[in-house]
This record gives sequence, C-alpha cells and structure tokens, in this order.
Amino acid sequence: MSLLDVQAVDSFYDDLQALFSVNVTVDEGTVVAIIGANGSGKSTLLRVIAGLQPARSGQVRYDGVPLANLPAHERVARGIALVPEGRRIFPSLSVLENLKVGAYRRRPGPWTLDRVVDLFPLLRPLLARNAAVLSGGEQQALAIGRALMGNPRLLLLDEVSLGLAPTIVRQLYAGLPAIVSAGTTILLVEQSIDQALAAASGMYCLLEGRVALAGPPAGLTRDAISAAYFGI
Ligand SMILES: Nc1ncnc2c1ncn2[C@@H]1O[C@H](COP(=O)(O)OP(=O)(O)OP(=O)(O)O)[C@@H](O)[C@H]1O
Ligand SMILES: [Mg+2]
Repeated sequence: MSLLDVQAVDSFYDDLQALFSVNVTVDEGTVVAIIGANGSGKSTLLRVIAGLQPARSGQVRYDGVPLANLPAHERVARGIALVPEGRRIFPSLSVLENLKVGAYRRRPGPWTLDRVVDLFPLLRPLLARNAAVLSGGEQQALAIGRALMGNPRLLLLDEVSLGLAPTIVRQLYAGLPAIVSAGTTILLVEQSIDQALAAASGMYCLLEGRVALAGPPAGLTRDAISAAYFGI
C-alpha cells in the first residue's frame, strides 16, 4: 500500500482553478519529485496534502485513510511535515531554539538534535546564532532539520534549491538518503529538475495544474520531460 495517494484532486483559489484532477502516489521509503514551471500548481499540491488549502473534489489518502477535512495541525500529528517555500524559520530565535520548536509535540522516532546536526554538520557551529543572520542555504538546512525534529513520516519539501548556490544544494540533497533510511518518506517540489530527478525514484511533471507526465525518471527521456515541462 502506498503511504500517500492523491486521487483526482481539484483545487481553487476563488474562481481560479489551480489543480485539475491531479493524481500522485508516493510509496513509503521513497523520494518522489514534483517538477513544473512557475505557477504550475506545485506548492498548491503540497498545501492540499498538508491541509493548508482545500481540495474541492477528489481526495488525499494517507496511510490508507482519507484525510478529508482533517486540519493541518492534525496532519502534522499524524506525521505530515511541510517545509514551505521561503523556509519560514523563526528569525528572532537561535538555531537551537528553532530546532527545539520543531520537537514540540514530536512523534516517537529516530530524529534528535544530535542526529539532525550530524545530518547537516554546517548547523553545528551555528547553534547559538540568531537564525535571522543565516545564509539562505543555512536557513534551508535549519528548516529541514526543524521539520525532522518532529519525526515526520512524510516530509514535504517545497523548492529545496530555490536561490541557493550549487554547493549548498548538493549538501542538502546529499542528506536525503539518510532521511529516507531513517524512515521518513519524501515528496519534494522543484523548478530546477536535474537535482530532483537524480534524487527521486518517481516523478510527476505539472503543467498548468495538470499532471503532464509521470513515471520513474530513469524511464523518461530528456525530450519527453522538457516537452511536458514547457508544454510543447
Ligand atoms: N494565494 C493565492 N491566491 C490566488 N491564487 C493563487 C494563490 N497561490 C497560488 N495561486 C495561483 O495558483 C496557481 C498555482 O500556483 P502555485 O503557487 O501552486 O504554483 P507553483 O508551481 O508552486 O509555482 P512557483 O514555481 O512559482 O512556486 C498559479 O496560477 C498562482 O497564481
Ligand atoms: Mg511554488
């Protein structure tokens, strides 16, 4: 059974339809990537899964159970963690305090402060520092680390690499296999596709709110992916 099943989801912002009958399946213990151009609906899809945006029709099944109208905080309690676009760390708190906030109401599981800092060693010398002064890459490591402190079963990552230098993006992606082997499944969203497709065993390409292409990246040609991405 898959951990996450998004079935025929439509979602709207007032009259604007952002998702059209979207189907996405994520098996436990995998990394799945959602790619797509600006405005294709990637963040909306993650927000629907996290319970921050309603699905007008269709359903999200998690661990075999329809989430229906379950509010966001109850989805967090069931192990769904979203690292949103733009990171949203607490700038007035230290790095350590940010990580401790992530452990508030933590579920049982392997992730501890030490383990998170081992995963992203660049955080270790920064623990006492105010989070506001971190670089974008350090903030992204902190945002992912904070989410892990709650021991999620499904980690939703929105635009891990946006605006970051290639070296830090490589460090962040290098952490993903350890996250999965600790028991957390990952659904990630990216505009830049190379890194995401290298990390993922499954891929969905959104185009104007619809799944234009889906499958294992290894089985898809570059041309097919580009055509789906750009709608040509
Ligand atoms: N809060 C909102 N109110 C109204 N429309 C919105 C809102 N958020 C997103 N949209 C619209 O919904 C559509 C999908 O947006 P979404 O943010 O999901 O795309 P995205 O793929 O994440 O884009 P990006 O790569 O730029 O982050 C777009 O047409 C966008 O303008
Ligand atoms: Mg987005």
